[in-house]
Amino acid sequence: MALLAIRDLVTQFKSSAGPFNAVNGVTLEVERGEMVGLVGESGCGKSLTLRSIVRVLPRGARIAGGQILYEGNDIAHLSSGNLTRFRGREISMILQDPMSALNPVYTVGAQLMETLRETRGLRGKAARQRAIELLRLVNIPDPERRLESYPHQLSGGLSQRVVIAIALCAQPKVLLADEPTTALDVTVQAQILKLLKDLQKQLQMAVLLVTHDLGLVAQTCSRVAIMYAGRVIEEGTVEQIFESPRHPYTVGLIESIPLVDGPLHTRLPAIPGSPPNMAKPIIGCAFAPRCPLASNECREGTIPLYDVAPQHRVACGKHALVSKHSVIYGVRANAAS
Ligand SMILES: Nc1ncnc2c1ncn2[C@@H]1O[C@H](COP(=O)(O)OP(=O)(O)O)[C@@H](O)[C@H]1O
Ligand SMILES: [Mg+2]
Repeated sequence: MALLAIRDLVTQFKSSAGPFNAVNGVTLEVERGEMVGLVGESGCGKSLTLRSIVRVLPRGARIAGGQILYEGNDIAHLSSGNLTRFRGREISMILQDPMSALNPVYTVGAQLMETLRETRGLRGKAARQRAIELLRLVNIPDPERRLESYPHQLSGGLSQRVVIAIALCAQPKVLLADEPTTALDVTVQAQILKLLKDLQKQLQMAVLLVTHDLGLVAQTCSRVAIMYAGRVIEEGTVEQIFESPRHPYTVGLIESIPLVDGPLHTRLPAIPGSPPNMAKPIIGCAFAPRCPLASNECREGTIPLYDVAPQHRVACGKHALVSKHSVIYGVRANAAS
């Protein structure tokens, strides 16, 4: 049984024109101790999916369908009292901007010790000892001294390390990381990613890493789910996704990863057009308006997830026509000059 299994999750927003599904049938599994990437363009519903899992939803949003199974129990419809046991204990979440997650008026030590009291019942010396251990675990130098620091005295990288330490207080089995490096400098990004990877291995903790950067997932995750317009449209191992992508959107994403050793400025965005407005109902495949392979049947009904290999699923009726090397978009991205 998967540690966390999300099935057909629908999360709805109220709007003046009526409700719309910003998460529109997400299906996704996370096994114990594994690191899974959840990738997609801005606005496709990544954050809302994570927020649905811990039910920290923005005003006007609600879970309107589907299941969120944690160790086999559906937590999507738990009362808020029962949910508290999961939120921040079994499942922790860290966000893009570490400063917004820290309270500016309390020291690092006070915030860690408060969380340790809430989640583990630790107080006094024991809490302080554990706080120091946690700072050490996230590679913060001179942890005793850092306990006395206030958030504004920390760099972005150190702040994110502190946020991660706070998220680890309860020894969660799942860490949800929502673009945890986007707000940081490039060199610091790599360090934080490495830290997450090390923690995942060392603590045998599952990590669901949300990012818009497929390249970053390739370096850290064992499996990837690709989201488009509120759905997971392809899911597989990193190898399957990079070596035999089956959704034209995935192929486009792979082609638009900048080459590390290539001339960055000679690349074209591989996928023409832009994602649909989620406030309007989507019929058929949401990607069809941008897809060079789309035909009439792509614009009807709901596209099912096809099993194309063990662990590899894709929501595309044309998946048999797609491979990494097919020239789907006419121009290969790297052919531009
Ligand atoms: N506070 C909000 N009010 C109304 N709609 C929202 C709000 N937040 C998000 N949405 C809608 O939900 C969609 C998904 O948002 P989000 O999960 O934040 O995307 P991502 O994290 O992938 O960038 C957005 O495209 C938007 O349509
Ligand atoms: Mg987001």
